[in-house]
Amino acid sequence: MRVDGRAYRSIWLDPDGWSVQIIDQSRLPHRFDIVRLTSAAEAAEAIAGMQVRGAPLIGATAAYGLALGLRERPDDGGLAASIARLRATRPTAVNLQWALERVRRVVQDLPAGERAAAAYLEAEFIAREDVEQNRAIGEHGLTLIREMAERRNGAPVRVLTHCNAGWLATVDVGTATAPLYLAHDQGIPLHVWVGETRPRNQGGALTAWELGHEGIPHTVIVDNAGGHVMQRGEVDLCIVGTDRTTAAGDVANKIGTYLKALAAHDLGIPFYVASPSSSIDWTLGSGAHIPIEERAAREVSHLSGATASGDLATVQVTAPGSPVGNPAFDVTPARLITGLITERGVAPATLAGLAGLFPEMAGPLPGEAGKAPSVSVPE
Ligand code: MRU
Repeated sequence: MRVDGRAYRSIWLDPDGWSVQIIDQSRLPHRFDIVRLTSAAEAAEAIAGMQVRGAPLIGATAAYGLALGLRERPDDGGLAASIARLRATRPTAVNLQWALERVRRVVQDLPAGERAAAAYLEAEFIAREDVEQNRAIGEHGLTLIREMAERRNGAPVRVLTHCNAGWLATVDVGTATAPLYLAHDQGIPLHVWVGETRPRNQGGALTAWELGHEGIPHTVIVDNAGGHVMQRGEVDLCIVGTDRTTAAGDVANKIGTYLKALAAHDLGIPFYVASPSSSIDWTLGSGAHIPIEERAAREVSHLSGATASGDLATVQVTAPGSPVGNPAFDVTPARLITGLITERGVAPATLAGLAGLFPEMAGPLPGEAGKAPSVSVPE
């Protein structure tokens, strides 16, 4: 996508041919800073500290991070250590382990001296595939928006989204926002309700910034207003992203997604999840098995932003000393989801629906029972 007239991906190889450049999303929308990653440790820190975030971008960064790690230490021990370090950063987004596994498979039988180059190549394949898949998701989602536009008879199609599943969360184009960019390009009038997405405000900070740069009309609302605008008949459809979709169609996405889905279900508003195949976990038959990341209390107790003078500042917003919980994701059960927008088409959120589009992946529904624990990540 373009920022001030220049085309960017959210991650790219430096002209030096080995280091990796990212946009520091922890400082957007107030600063547009580019950061250079030179080691697996720096890539892991960028993921854990959410300078990069969003399931597909987490996967691509991990793949490049592993290439950086192999450049430093290409032996079996180095390979295992880099994978372990990168894998420990964020437990919910399945793209992380998917991308690491993909690179591991490519390099493990190669002589140590050939591993780094092969890993860079695979990381770039992952990045390019992500962009292609998101373009296809955009086309399939566009059909849904076009149908709604016909019903709206020239009035704007009103879409509610949550968190940031835009180009910043992917390598480019975005998942949930891909149909919006296409619709806008084709002259379909839109209005996007952007849930701010506490605690880190990915909606208010990142999605709003993206939509503003593309000239798409939008309004940021507090998360608690989502049900209200739906109840007032001001939302035609919801589209959100996913960090992990199970084989049965349950979806873990940013905390608060479940409440939006409940309200949409109650009101008969279509609720779609843009779900690239890289975010589908075929080993899980139930969303109860998805590990939910528990993040630092400080993300809830403190807020960061820009002061009137433009300086960045952080303030405490909760009562000092009060304990704080910060589950970063929740699970929306498949029964609340109208459809999964994948790169191969829109599927019902069921095993049969997903298997119809990905017959090579689907086996029998993996077992039920048990509930995955919350997983705390280091501050
Ligand atoms: O904690 P984040 O910002 O990484 O969470 C991001 C989301 O929940 C996105 O909706 C999801 O990763 C899909 S991104 C295309």
